[in-house]
Amino acid sequence: MGTNSVLHTELIVDKITIRGGSHLDGSIEISGAKNAALPCMAACLLTDETLILRNLPAVVDIRTMEKVLGTLGTHVSHETTPSLLSITQSLTCNEPSEYKAPYELVKTMRASILVLGPLLTRFGKASISFPGGCSIGARPIDLHLEVMSKMGASIDIHHGYVEASLPSGKRLKGIDHTFPYISVGATENSLLAAALADGKTILRNAAKEPEISDLISLLISMGIPIEGLGTSTLAIEGQRQAHGTHYTIIPDRIEVGTFICALAITGGSLCLQGVVLEHVSSLLEVIERSGCKYRYDVTKKVLHLERSPSDRLEPINISTAPYPDFPTDLQAQFMAVLTQADGTSTIIENIFENRFQHVMELQRLGASIDMDGRTARIHGPTLLSGTTVMASDLRASAGLVIAGLAAEGTTTIERIYHLDRGYAHLDHKLRSVGVEIERIK
Ligand code: EPZ
Repeated sequence: MGTNSVLHTELIVDKITIRGGSHLDGSIEISGAKNAALPCMAACLLTDETLILRNLPAVVDIRTMEKVLGTLGTHVSHETTPSLLSITQSLTCNEPSEYKAPYELVKTMRASILVLGPLLTRFGKASISFPGGCSIGARPIDLHLEVMSKMGASIDIHHGYVEASLPSGKRLKGIDHTFPYISVGATENSLLAAALADGKTILRNAAKEPEISDLISLLISMGIPIEGLGTSTLAIEGQRQAHGTHYTIIPDRIEVGTFICALAITGGSLCLQGVVLEHVSSLLEVIERSGCKYRYDVTKKVLHLERSPSDRLEPINISTAPYPDFPTDLQAQFMAVLTQADGTSTIIENIFENRFQHVMELQRLGASIDMDGRTARIHGPTLLSGTTVMASDLRASAGLVIAGLAAEGTTTIERIYHLDRGYAHLDHKLRSVGVEIERIK
Protein backbone atom coordinates (compact mmCIF):
# COMPACT_ATOMS: atom_id res chain seq x y z
CA MET A 1 0.00 0.00 0.00
CA GLY A 2 1.30 3.47 -0.81
CA THR A 3 1.51 6.07 1.92
CA ASN A 4 1.87 8.85 -0.61
CA SER A 5 -0.94 7.97 -3.00
CA VAL A 6 -3.41 10.82 -3.20
CA LEU A 7 -7.10 10.17 -2.79
CA HIS A 8 -8.92 11.02 -5.97
CA THR A 9 -11.42 12.96 -3.87
CA GLU A 10 -8.80 15.48 -2.78
CA LEU A 11 -9.51 17.35 -5.99
CA ILE A 12 -11.68 20.18 -4.76
CA VAL A 13 -14.06 21.11 -7.55
CA ASP A 14 -16.43 23.94 -7.02
CA LYS A 15 -19.50 23.46 -9.20
CA ILE A 16 -21.76 20.81 -10.61
CA THR A 17 -24.20 21.38 -13.45
CA ILE A 18 -27.15 19.09 -14.06
CA ARG A 19 -29.53 19.10 -17.00
CA GLY A 20 -32.86 17.95 -15.63
CA GLY A 21 -35.32 15.60 -17.23
CA SER A 22 -33.38 12.33 -17.72
CA HIS A 23 -34.87 9.04 -16.53
CA LEU A 24 -32.49 6.76 -14.68
CA ASP A 25 -31.59 3.42 -16.15
CA GLY A 26 -28.79 1.14 -15.02
CA SER A 27 -26.87 -0.17 -12.07
CA ILE A 28 -24.87 1.52 -9.29
CA GLU A 29 -22.40 0.06 -6.79
CA ILE A 30 -22.98 1.33 -3.26
CA SER A 31 -19.86 2.52 -1.40
CA GLY A 32 -18.92 1.84 2.21
CA ALA A 33 -20.59 3.92 4.92
CA LYS A 34 -18.63 7.06 5.82
CA ASN A 35 -20.31 7.29 9.23
CA ALA A 36 -19.35 3.70 10.05
CA ALA A 37 -15.83 4.09 8.68
CA LEU A 38 -14.91 7.15 10.80
CA PRO A 39 -15.39 5.59 14.28
CA CYS A 40 -13.85 2.33 13.03
CA MET A 41 -10.76 4.27 11.96
CA ALA A 42 -10.58 5.89 15.42
CA ALA A 43 -10.51 2.36 16.91
CA CYS A 44 -6.94 1.95 15.57
CA LEU A 45 -5.84 4.16 18.51
CA LEU A 46 -6.74 1.32 20.89
CA THR A 47 -3.84 -0.90 19.86
CA ASP A 48 -0.25 -0.90 18.60
CA GLU A 49 -1.13 -3.75 16.23
CA THR A 50 -2.22 -3.06 12.67
CA LEU A 51 -5.87 -2.56 11.79
CA ILE A 52 -6.82 -3.25 8.17
CA LEU A 53 -10.12 -1.67 7.11
CA ARG A 54 -11.73 -2.49 3.77
CA ASN A 55 -14.55 -0.88 1.80
CA LEU A 56 -13.99 2.64 3.09
CA PRO A 57 -15.61 5.18 0.76
CA ALA A 58 -13.29 7.40 -1.31
CA VAL A 59 -14.51 10.64 0.27
CA VAL A 60 -12.79 13.67 1.77
CA ASP A 61 -13.89 13.01 5.38
CA ILE A 62 -11.95 9.72 5.32
CA ARG A 63 -8.88 11.67 4.21
CA THR A 64 -9.43 14.18 7.02
CA MET A 65 -9.64 11.35 9.57
CA GLU A 66 -6.39 9.96 8.15
CA LYS A 67 -4.80 13.35 8.82
CA VAL A 68 -6.17 13.47 12.37
CA LEU A 69 -4.80 9.99 13.07
CA GLY A 70 -1.53 10.94 11.37
CA THR A 71 -1.03 13.87 13.78
CA LEU A 72 -1.48 11.32 16.59
CA GLY A 73 1.46 9.27 15.35
CA THR A 74 -0.56 6.71 13.39
CA HIS A 75 1.12 5.22 10.34
CA VAL A 76 -1.59 5.25 7.68
CA SER A 77 -1.37 3.73 4.24
CA HIS A 78 -4.14 3.12 1.78
CA GLU A 79 -4.95 1.61 -1.54
CA THR A 80 -7.81 2.70 -3.79
CA THR A 81 -9.71 0.15 -5.91
CA PRO A 82 -9.40 0.49 -9.71
CA SER A 83 -12.96 1.90 -9.79
CA LEU A 84 -11.69 4.64 -7.38
CA LEU A 85 -14.80 4.10 -5.27
CA SER A 86 -13.38 2.30 -2.30
CA ILE A 87 -10.27 2.29 -0.14
CA THR A 88 -8.45 -0.31 1.92
CA GLN A 89 -6.53 1.18 4.78
CA SER A 90 -3.79 -0.02 7.04
CA LEU A 91 -3.55 1.84 10.37
CA THR A 92 -0.90 1.32 13.05
CA CYS A 93 -0.73 3.55 16.11
CA ASN A 94 2.34 3.31 18.30
CA GLU A 95 2.89 5.82 21.11
CA PRO A 96 1.99 9.29 19.72
CA SER A 97 4.39 12.20 20.25
CA GLU A 98 1.33 14.41 20.78
CA TYR A 99 -2.16 13.56 21.98
CA LYS A 100 -3.75 16.46 20.20
CA ALA A 101 -6.44 16.83 17.52
CA PRO A 102 -5.80 20.37 16.28
CA TYR A 103 -8.35 23.07 15.48
CA GLU A 104 -7.39 23.11 11.77
CA LEU A 105 -8.67 19.54 11.38
CA VAL A 106 -11.52 19.46 13.90
CA LYS A 107 -13.08 22.59 12.38
CA THR A 108 -13.33 20.80 9.02
CA MET A 109 -14.77 17.60 10.49
CA ARG A 110 -16.56 17.32 13.83
CA ALA A 111 -16.21 13.52 13.85
CA SER A 112 -12.58 14.18 14.90
CA ILE A 113 -13.99 14.22 18.45
CA LEU A 114 -14.16 10.40 18.15
CA VAL A 115 -10.44 10.18 18.98
CA LEU A 116 -11.15 11.43 22.52
CA GLY A 117 -12.37 8.10 23.96
CA PRO A 118 -9.63 5.86 22.51
CA LEU A 119 -6.77 8.29 23.33
CA LEU A 120 -7.93 8.70 26.90
CA THR A 121 -8.49 5.01 27.55
CA ARG A 122 -5.16 3.87 26.06
CA PHE A 123 -2.80 6.74 26.92
CA GLY A 124 -4.61 8.53 29.76
CA LYS A 125 -4.62 11.91 27.99
CA ALA A 126 -6.19 13.73 25.07
CA SER A 127 -6.37 17.30 23.86
CA ILE A 128 -9.08 17.91 21.30
CA SER A 129 -10.05 21.22 19.78
CA PHE A 130 -13.57 22.04 20.98
CA PRO A 131 -15.82 21.74 17.92
CA GLY A 132 -17.93 24.85 17.43
CA GLY A 133 -21.49 24.99 16.13
CA CYS A 134 -22.03 23.98 12.53
CA SER A 135 -24.38 24.72 9.69
CA ILE A 136 -26.99 22.17 10.82
CA GLY A 137 -27.15 23.11 14.51
CA ALA A 138 -25.27 23.81 17.76
CA ARG A 139 -24.14 20.18 18.12
CA PRO A 140 -22.65 20.26 21.64
CA ILE A 141 -20.43 17.43 22.99
CA ASP A 142 -21.64 17.46 26.59
CA LEU A 143 -22.84 13.83 26.42
CA HIS A 144 -19.36 12.66 25.34
CA LEU A 145 -17.66 14.62 28.13
CA GLU A 146 -20.12 13.47 30.80
CA VAL A 147 -19.26 9.83 30.12
CA MET A 148 -15.47 10.44 30.15
CA SER A 149 -15.78 12.35 33.40
CA LYS A 150 -17.95 9.65 35.01
CA MET A 151 -15.31 7.09 33.97
CA GLY A 152 -12.75 9.03 36.03
CA ALA A 153 -11.17 11.51 33.61
CA SER A 154 -10.67 15.12 34.57
CA ILE A 155 -11.92 17.42 31.86
CA ASP A 156 -10.95 21.07 31.39
CA ILE A 157 -11.56 23.48 28.58
CA HIS A 158 -8.45 25.60 27.92
CA HIS A 159 -7.83 27.94 24.99
CA GLY A 160 -10.54 26.25 22.92
CA TYR A 161 -9.34 22.73 23.66
CA VAL A 162 -10.93 19.92 25.65
CA GLU A 163 -8.07 18.73 27.87
CA ALA A 164 -8.85 15.30 29.27
CA SER A 165 -6.54 13.32 31.52
CA LEU A 166 -6.22 10.55 34.07
CA PRO A 167 -3.87 10.36 37.07
CA SER A 168 -0.62 8.63 36.06
CA GLY A 169 -0.95 4.83 35.95
CA LYS A 170 -4.76 4.90 36.28
CA ARG A 171 -7.25 3.47 33.76
CA LEU A 172 -10.72 4.71 32.97
CA LYS A 173 -13.19 2.74 35.07
CA GLY A 174 -16.25 0.87 33.88
CA ILE A 175 -19.59 2.59 34.59
CA ASP A 176 -23.33 2.04 34.33
CA HIS A 177 -24.58 4.99 32.33
CA THR A 178 -27.91 6.05 30.87
CA PHE A 179 -27.77 8.61 28.07
CA PRO A 180 -30.42 11.32 28.63
CA TYR A 181 -31.17 11.14 24.90
CA ILE A 182 -29.85 9.24 21.95
CA SER A 183 -26.55 10.35 20.45
CA VAL A 184 -24.68 8.43 17.77
CA GLY A 185 -21.31 10.09 18.41
CA ALA A 186 -21.52 9.89 22.23
CA THR A 187 -22.40 6.18 22.02
CA GLU A 188 -19.41 5.58 19.74
CA ASN A 189 -16.97 7.56 21.88
CA SER A 190 -18.19 5.74 25.00
CA LEU A 191 -17.82 2.32 23.34
CA LEU A 192 -14.25 3.20 22.34
CA ALA A 193 -13.42 4.46 25.84
CA ALA A 194 -15.00 1.43 27.54
CA ALA A 195 -12.96 -0.99 25.38
CA LEU A 196 -9.84 -0.60 27.55
CA ALA A 197 -11.53 0.55 30.77
CA ASP A 198 -11.10 -1.25 34.06
CA GLY A 199 -14.23 -3.42 34.44
CA LYS A 200 -17.59 -3.59 32.75
CA THR A 201 -19.40 -0.62 31.23
CA ILE A 202 -23.12 -0.65 30.62
CA LEU A 203 -24.52 1.96 28.25
CA ARG A 204 -28.29 2.43 28.33
CA ASN A 205 -30.42 4.37 25.86
CA ALA A 206 -27.52 3.95 23.43
CA ALA A 207 -27.92 4.67 19.71
CA LYS A 208 -28.76 1.59 17.59
CA GLU A 209 -27.74 2.84 14.14
CA PRO A 210 -26.14 0.21 11.85
CA GLU A 211 -22.96 2.32 12.05
CA ILE A 212 -22.87 1.65 15.83
CA SER A 213 -23.30 -2.08 15.22
CA ASP A 214 -20.44 -1.94 12.73
CA LEU A 215 -18.15 -0.37 15.34
CA ILE A 216 -19.24 -3.00 17.89
CA SER A 217 -18.50 -5.83 15.44
CA LEU A 218 -15.06 -4.36 14.79
CA LEU A 219 -14.33 -3.99 18.54
CA ILE A 220 -15.41 -7.60 19.11
CA SER A 221 -13.01 -8.73 16.41
CA MET A 222 -10.28 -6.67 18.16
CA GLY A 223 -10.83 -8.81 21.27
CA ILE A 224 -13.31 -6.65 23.24
CA PRO A 225 -16.35 -8.65 24.45
CA ILE A 226 -19.55 -6.65 23.91
CA GLU A 227 -23.15 -7.75 24.43
CA GLY A 228 -26.32 -6.12 23.13
CA LEU A 229 -25.46 -5.65 19.44
CA GLY A 230 -28.34 -3.86 17.71
CA THR A 231 -30.08 -2.95 20.99
CA SER A 232 -30.11 0.17 23.14
CA THR A 233 -28.34 -1.49 26.09
CA LEU A 234 -24.71 -2.34 25.51
CA ALA A 235 -22.39 -4.16 27.94
CA ILE A 236 -18.66 -3.80 27.28
CA GLU A 237 -16.12 -5.93 29.15
CA GLY A 238 -13.05 -3.64 29.31
CA GLN A 239 -9.71 -5.34 28.43
CA ARG A 240 -6.09 -4.44 29.16
CA GLN A 241 -5.36 -4.46 25.46
CA ALA A 242 -7.00 -4.72 22.06
CA HIS A 243 -5.45 -6.38 19.04
CA GLY A 244 -5.27 -5.71 15.33
CA THR A 245 -7.71 -7.24 12.86
CA HIS A 246 -9.10 -7.12 9.31
CA TYR A 247 -12.56 -5.67 8.93
CA THR A 248 -14.95 -4.73 6.08
CA ILE A 249 -17.15 -1.63 6.52
CA ILE A 250 -20.93 -1.90 5.82
CA PRO A 251 -22.53 -0.33 2.74
CA ASP A 252 -23.75 3.25 3.07
CA ARG A 253 -27.50 3.26 3.74
CA ILE A 254 -27.64 7.04 3.26
CA GLU A 255 -26.13 6.70 -0.19
CA VAL A 256 -28.74 4.02 -0.94
CA GLY A 257 -31.47 6.41 0.22
CA THR A 258 -30.06 9.21 -1.92
CA PHE A 259 -30.28 7.04 -5.05
CA ILE A 260 -33.78 5.94 -4.07
CA CYS A 261 -34.69 9.64 -4.06
CA ALA A 262 -33.00 10.13 -7.44
CA LEU A 263 -35.13 7.35 -8.92
CA ALA A 264 -38.29 8.58 -7.21
CA ILE A 265 -37.96 12.06 -8.69
CA THR A 266 -36.94 11.05 -12.22
CA GLY A 267 -38.62 7.68 -12.78
CA GLY A 268 -36.93 4.83 -14.61
CA SER A 269 -35.32 1.71 -13.25
CA LEU A 270 -32.27 1.31 -11.07
CA CYS A 271 -30.31 -1.60 -9.55
CA LEU A 272 -28.38 -0.75 -6.40
CA GLN A 273 -25.66 -3.29 -5.66
CA GLY A 274 -24.49 -4.07 -2.15
CA VAL A 275 -27.56 -3.06 -0.12
CA VAL A 276 -28.38 -4.41 3.36
CA LEU A 277 -32.18 -4.46 3.22
CA GLU A 278 -32.86 -4.10 6.95
CA HIS A 279 -30.75 -0.91 7.08
CA VAL A 280 -33.09 0.82 4.64
CA SER A 281 -36.48 -0.62 5.58
CA SER A 282 -37.89 2.69 6.94
CA LEU A 283 -36.97 4.37 3.64
CA LEU A 284 -38.49 1.66 1.52
CA GLU A 285 -41.69 1.90 3.52
CA VAL A 286 -41.82 5.64 2.81
CA ILE A 287 -40.96 5.27 -0.84
CA GLU A 288 -43.58 2.56 -1.34
CA ARG A 289 -46.18 4.87 0.19
CA SER A 290 -45.16 7.49 -2.35
CA GLY A 291 -45.71 5.07 -5.26
CA CYS A 292 -42.31 3.48 -6.13
CA LYS A 293 -41.90 -0.28 -6.49
CA TYR A 294 -38.94 -2.32 -5.33
CA ARG A 295 -37.67 -5.89 -5.26
CA TYR A 296 -34.70 -7.24 -3.31
CA ASP A 297 -32.41 -10.08 -4.28
CA VAL A 298 -31.17 -11.47 -0.96
CA THR A 299 -28.33 -13.59 -2.33
CA LYS A 300 -26.89 -10.85 -4.52
CA LYS A 301 -27.82 -8.00 -2.12
CA VAL A 302 -29.24 -6.05 -5.03
CA LEU A 303 -32.16 -3.66 -4.69
CA HIS A 304 -34.19 -3.18 -7.90
CA LEU A 305 -36.26 0.00 -8.00
CA GLU A 306 -38.80 1.08 -10.57
CA ARG A 307 -41.10 3.99 -11.14
CA SER A 308 -42.86 4.93 -14.30
CA PRO A 309 -42.37 8.69 -14.86
CA SER A 310 -46.10 8.98 -15.54
CA ASP A 311 -47.08 7.40 -12.17
CA ARG A 312 -48.52 9.72 -9.55
CA LEU A 313 -46.07 10.51 -6.71
CA GLU A 314 -48.11 10.49 -3.48
CA PRO A 315 -47.55 13.13 -0.77
CA ILE A 316 -46.11 11.72 2.48
CA ASN A 317 -45.45 12.83 6.04
CA ILE A 318 -42.03 12.20 7.56
CA SER A 319 -40.58 12.77 11.03
CA THR A 320 -36.85 12.31 11.46
CA ALA A 321 -35.79 10.21 14.46
CA PRO A 322 -32.97 7.88 15.54
CA TYR A 323 -32.66 4.48 13.81
CA PRO A 324 -34.69 2.45 12.93
CA ASP A 325 -36.91 5.44 12.15
CA PHE A 326 -36.45 7.91 9.33
CA PRO A 327 -32.88 9.35 9.23
CA THR A 328 -32.20 13.08 9.38
CA ASP A 329 -29.42 12.47 6.84
CA LEU A 330 -32.06 11.86 4.15
CA GLN A 331 -34.42 14.67 5.04
CA ALA A 332 -33.12 17.15 2.43
CA GLN A 333 -33.14 14.56 -0.37
CA PHE A 334 -36.73 13.48 0.40
CA MET A 335 -37.82 17.11 0.57
CA ALA A 336 -36.58 17.57 -2.98
CA VAL A 337 -38.61 14.54 -4.10
CA LEU A 338 -41.74 15.82 -2.34
CA THR A 339 -41.72 19.02 -4.41
CA GLN A 340 -43.00 16.71 -7.19
CA ALA A 341 -45.63 14.85 -5.10
CA ASP A 342 -49.26 15.39 -5.93
CA GLY A 343 -50.40 17.29 -2.79
CA THR A 344 -48.98 18.62 0.47
CA SER A 345 -46.34 16.65 2.40
CA THR A 346 -44.96 17.42 5.85
CA ILE A 347 -41.43 16.93 7.16
CA ILE A 348 -40.61 17.36 10.86
CA GLU A 349 -36.89 17.58 11.66
CA ASN A 350 -36.44 16.30 15.21
CA ILE A 351 -32.67 15.77 15.38
CA PHE A 352 -30.97 19.03 14.36
CA GLU A 353 -32.52 22.44 15.00
CA ASN A 354 -31.12 24.13 11.90
CA ARG A 355 -31.20 21.49 9.23
CA PHE A 356 -33.44 23.31 6.77
CA GLN A 357 -30.90 25.46 4.97
CA HIS A 358 -31.71 23.75 1.68
CA VAL A 359 -35.28 25.08 1.87
CA MET A 360 -34.41 28.54 0.56
CA GLU A 361 -32.33 27.06 -2.23
CA LEU A 362 -35.18 24.71 -3.20
CA GLN A 363 -37.47 27.76 -3.19
CA ARG A 364 -35.06 29.46 -5.60
CA LEU A 365 -35.64 26.52 -7.92
CA GLY A 366 -39.38 27.14 -7.65
CA ALA A 367 -40.41 24.82 -4.79
CA SER A 368 -43.40 25.84 -2.68
CA ILE A 369 -42.42 25.21 0.96
CA ASP A 370 -43.81 26.79 4.17
CA MET A 371 -41.79 26.67 7.34
CA ASP A 372 -43.02 26.62 10.92
CA GLY A 373 -40.16 25.96 13.37
CA ARG A 374 -39.03 22.38 12.85
CA THR A 375 -41.88 21.63 10.41
CA ALA A 376 -41.74 22.11 6.66
CA ARG A 377 -44.84 21.80 4.46
CA ILE A 378 -44.06 21.03 0.86
CA HIS A 379 -46.81 21.77 -1.65
CA GLY A 380 -46.49 19.80 -4.84
CA PRO A 381 -46.22 19.30 -7.63
CA THR A 382 -44.30 22.42 -8.63
CA LEU A 383 -42.41 23.01 -11.82
CA LEU A 384 -38.76 23.41 -10.81
CA SER A 385 -36.67 25.57 -13.10
CA GLY A 386 -32.89 25.35 -13.14
CA THR A 387 -30.78 28.16 -11.72
CA THR A 388 -27.63 28.57 -9.60
CA VAL A 389 -27.98 27.34 -6.03
CA MET A 390 -25.53 26.97 -3.17
CA ALA A 391 -24.84 23.89 -1.07
CA SER A 392 -24.67 24.55 2.70
CA ASP A 393 -23.78 21.09 4.00
CA LEU A 394 -23.31 17.54 2.82
CA ARG A 395 -26.91 16.31 2.74
CA ALA A 396 -28.30 19.69 1.64
CA SER A 397 -26.01 19.40 -1.41
CA ALA A 398 -27.43 15.98 -2.18
CA GLY A 399 -30.95 17.41 -1.88
CA LEU A 400 -30.10 20.08 -4.44
CA VAL A 401 -28.66 17.47 -6.81
CA ILE A 402 -31.94 15.51 -6.53
CA ALA A 403 -33.96 18.66 -7.25
CA GLY A 404 -31.70 19.42 -10.23
CA LEU A 405 -32.60 16.02 -11.73
CA ALA A 406 -36.22 17.15 -12.07
CA ALA A 407 -35.69 20.84 -12.84
CA GLU A 408 -36.30 22.24 -16.28
CA GLY A 409 -33.03 23.37 -17.91
CA THR A 410 -29.69 23.51 -16.13
CA THR A 411 -29.13 23.68 -12.38
CA THR A 412 -25.70 24.78 -11.18
CA ILE A 413 -24.76 23.80 -7.63
CA GLU A 414 -21.96 25.78 -6.04
CA ARG A 415 -19.75 24.86 -3.06
CA ILE A 416 -19.93 21.26 -4.08
CA TYR A 417 -16.97 20.38 -1.85
CA HIS A 418 -19.59 19.59 0.78
CA LEU A 419 -20.80 16.74 -1.42
CA ASP A 420 -17.29 15.30 -1.79
CA ARG A 421 -16.99 15.04 2.00
CA GLY A 422 -19.45 12.17 2.08
CA TYR A 423 -20.38 10.83 -1.37
CA ALA A 424 -17.94 8.79 -3.42
CA HIS A 425 -18.20 10.22 -6.94
CA LEU A 426 -21.93 10.88 -6.89
CA ASP A 427 -21.66 12.66 -10.24
CA HIS A 428 -19.91 9.70 -11.93
CA LYS A 429 -22.47 7.29 -10.54
CA LEU A 430 -25.41 9.42 -11.74
CA ARG A 431 -23.81 9.91 -15.17
CA SER A 432 -23.43 6.15 -15.49
CA VAL A 433 -27.23 5.75 -15.22
CA GLY A 434 -28.11 8.44 -17.73
CA VAL A 435 -27.97 11.81 -15.96
CA GLU A 436 -26.42 14.79 -17.79
CA ILE A 437 -24.18 15.99 -14.97
CA GLU A 438 -20.80 17.75 -15.18
CA ARG A 439 -18.22 19.05 -12.76
CA ILE A 440 -16.73 22.44 -13.46
CA LYS A 441 -13.47 23.30 -11.75
C1 EPZ B 1 -24.00 11.53 13.58
O1 EPZ B 1 -23.67 12.82 14.07
C2 EPZ B 1 -23.69 11.56 12.09
N1 EPZ B 1 -22.28 11.85 11.91
C3 EPZ B 1 -24.56 12.61 11.41
O2 EPZ B 1 -24.31 12.54 10.01
C4 EPZ B 1 -26.03 12.27 11.68
O3 EPZ B 1 -26.83 13.30 11.12
C5 EPZ B 1 -26.28 12.18 13.18
O4 EPZ B 1 -25.38 11.22 13.78
C6 EPZ B 1 -27.70 11.76 13.52
O5 EPZ B 1 -27.99 10.53 12.93
C7 EPZ B 1 -21.39 10.87 11.96
O6 EPZ B 1 -21.71 9.71 12.20
C8 EPZ B 1 -19.97 11.22 11.70
P1 EPZ B 1 -25.72 12.85 17.43
P2 EPZ B 1 -23.53 13.07 15.65
O7 EPZ B 1 -24.72 12.93 18.52
O8 EPZ B 1 -22.95 11.86 16.27
C9 EPZ B 1 -27.34 16.41 20.20
C10 EPZ B 1 -23.86 13.42 7.89
O9 EPZ B 1 -24.47 14.21 7.12
N2 EPZ B 1 -26.15 16.18 21.04
O10 EPZ B 1 -26.52 11.61 17.29
O11 EPZ B 1 -22.85 14.35 15.84
C11 EPZ B 1 -26.99 16.93 18.81
O12 EPZ B 1 -26.77 18.32 18.81
C12 EPZ B 1 -23.76 13.70 9.37
O13 EPZ B 1 -23.27 12.40 7.48
C13 EPZ B 1 -26.00 16.90 22.20
O14 EPZ B 1 -26.84 17.74 22.55
O15 EPZ B 1 -25.05 13.21 16.02
C14 EPZ B 1 -28.19 16.49 18.01
O16 EPZ B 1 -29.22 17.41 18.18
C15 EPZ B 1 -24.26 15.04 9.77
N3 EPZ B 1 -24.90 16.67 22.99
C16 EPZ B 1 -28.57 15.15 18.65
O17 EPZ B 1 -27.96 15.17 19.95
C17 EPZ B 1 -23.95 15.76 22.63
O18 EPZ B 1 -22.98 15.60 23.37
C18 EPZ B 1 -28.08 13.91 17.93
O19 EPZ B 1 -26.71 14.08 17.57
C19 EPZ B 1 -24.12 15.02 21.44
C20 EPZ B 1 -25.24 15.25 20.65
